[in-house]
Amino acid sequence: YHSNDDSFLVIAHRGASAQYPENTMPAFKGAVEMEAEMIELDVMMSSDGVPVVFHDARLDDHSDGKGLLKDYTLRELRTLDVGSWFSEQYRGEKMPTLEEAIEFASGKIALNIEIKTEAVSDELHGGVEEKSLELVKKYGMEDHVIFSSFDYRALEHLKKLDPAIPVALLYNRSESENMSPLELVRKYGVDAFNCSYNQFKKKWSRELKEHNIPHFIYTVDQPRRMRRLLSAEVSGIFTNKPDLLKEVATEFQE
Ligand code: G3P
Ligand code: MG
Repeated sequence: YHSNDDSFLVIAHRGASAQYPENTMPAFKGAVEMEAEMIELDVMMSSDGVPVVFHDARLDDHSDGKGLLKDYTLRELRTLDVGSWFSEQYRGEKMPTLEEAIEFASGKIALNIEIKTEAVSDELHGGVEEKSLELVKKYGMEDHVIFSSFDYRALEHLKKLDPAIPVALLYNRSESENMSPLELVRKYGVDAFNCSYNQFKKKWSRELKEHNIPHFIYTVDQPRRMRRLLSAEVSGIFTNKPDLLKEVATEFQE
């Protein structure tokens, strides 16, 4: 990932998660097979301080576990089944560690590592940024990664740890204090602006483009919405269906 690269990015949201259980290795392999340019995944900490890939604070909906992820050690989390809620075919699929996902991606595909902090216990707070960044460096993925978070303290922390590491702000209207995307990007010293389809205003696109701020919109699975964003020349789209977005995007190639 380079912020001066203006090619459009197909970003597999939690992997190719329309066809595979979200945030699992099969979903990440699917994204590579569908030739997505980037995989988005969500990261939290186990109770013993290991970054793992999972979206929800609670285990109940997308695994056979119960309660809060942050209360379990890595060893306990690794006994859970994160596949069969999606389909019998994926029974026994294990929750990936961030390290496993980075090792898989290195040399193959870029990553958007979204840091989820709501579910991290207080004593581990801050550690998730440090450890995730360390892993990115261990696998030489610095040029193929972008971090993001709805928690702006996490963004500032990442930039303090390494000002050169690309970071995107996840927009939240209620926390934006009426600031424009450009103002928010400047206030938090980040490199890119990520926003939901519903909150994104088409007019923002021009201002962001004028200032060379990449902007990525989530989560879009409908061709009509994909076309609307492609014609606004957004920098990339998060989708659960990277194969479909790839196909739609060919209509816009010069
Ligand atoms: O990073 C984009 C998107 O994933 C943010 O929302 O809830 O899907 O993690 P969520
Ligand atoms: Mg996410």
